[in-house]
Amino acid sequence: MKIAVLGGDGIGPEVTAQAVKVLRALASRGLSFELTECLVGGAAYDQTGHPLPAQTLAAVQRADAVLFGAEGGFQYETLPRGLRPGDALLTLRKALDLFANYRPVVAFRELAGASSFKREVVEGLDLLIVRELTSDLYFGEPRGIVTENGRRVGINTMRYTEDEIARVVRAGFEAARRRQRKLCSVDKANVLESMELWRAVTEEVARDYPDVALTHLYVDAAAMALARNPGQFDVIVTGNLFGDILSDEASMLTGSIGMLPSASVNAQGKGLYEPVHGCAPDIAGKDIANPLGSILSAAMMLRDSAGQPEAAARVEDAVRRVLADGLRTADIHEPGCTLAGTAAMGDAVVAALLDH
Ligand code: IPM
Ligand code: MG
Repeated sequence: MKIAVLGGDGIGPEVTAQAVKVLRALASRGLSFELTECLVGGAAYDQTGHPLPAQTLAAVQRADAVLFGAEGGFQYETLPRGLRPGDALLTLRKALDLFANYRPVVAFRELAGASSFKREVVEGLDLLIVRELTSDLYFGEPRGIVTENGRRVGINTMRYTEDEIARVVRAGFEAARRRQRKLCSVDKANVLESMELWRAVTEEVARDYPDVALTHLYVDAAAMALARNPGQFDVIVTGNLFGDILSDEASMLTGSIGMLPSASVNAQGKGLYEPVHGCAPDIAGKDIANPLGSILSAAMMLRDSAGQPEAAARVEDAVRRVLADGLRTADIHEPGCTLAGTAAMGDAVVAALLDH
């Protein structure tokens, strides 16, 4: 299996290095990977003048899966669009047509006290957000900042074709079938026509899934329900922008955004795996970032792109055991636990993996 490793910027390279350690540990036990490290984001811009060099795009296209870190940094925020690090990720998502973004939100029992939510609200939580990733306000045209009558106007377009809606909603139904058979579609059909279509198409697709219980929520009510009673959700399917916002909110249920993995997959099953967190420039290079989101992303890659569900479960189990042993990075640290740096956390997961 060919994996392109794109560490990127900020804490991206350090957390990705821990996930790579885990993959190498598995390789020492018989799995075989070909890892190719590529430049992306600000790091690529600094060295090549472009956040997504042609060489990186080619390597990604050759690969079976992509392990992505994070990209960005304050110093790049004023670059022209197209040259900003975040544009590389958006281009990759679009170029590979990674329309289905899976963001599992699992609250580890050991971390219930690290969440700002009450223990009884988050304990045992296990939900999945399926976010559309290649359309919506993120890519809709027209867009831009134009001048009208001497004043600036900022424009973005929320736009969805029925096929774009149908394929991601179908991914949501399929995911629900593998879980508790409950799907909640989140839209804003009361105000936005694009979302009115979302709801109509969702109802049409639902005819093929009579065994899955479908509900609908407006995004504002969904934001409230996630905070009030997240246990009611099994799978949530939603658009690109709403999914972006709701997944950050949902991450707080688990204690830290540093815990959340994600998979972005296209129709051919090729996937890009990345932690949900960003590049966190304020803590970059200090060996304090939580690598578990990246390590758990590698586990998703093993399950979804490598066809290695057992290896994936072993990695997840190793993470669970390290947490049960009381090891914590700063973001999830509580009194009585042992504080670990990024690399030490990675080493501990590798040790737990190998000793099993
Ligand atoms: C995410 C991130 C990205 C997004 C940014 C970095 C472009 O927030 O993956 O959730 O908005 O999709
Ligand atoms: Mg986001």
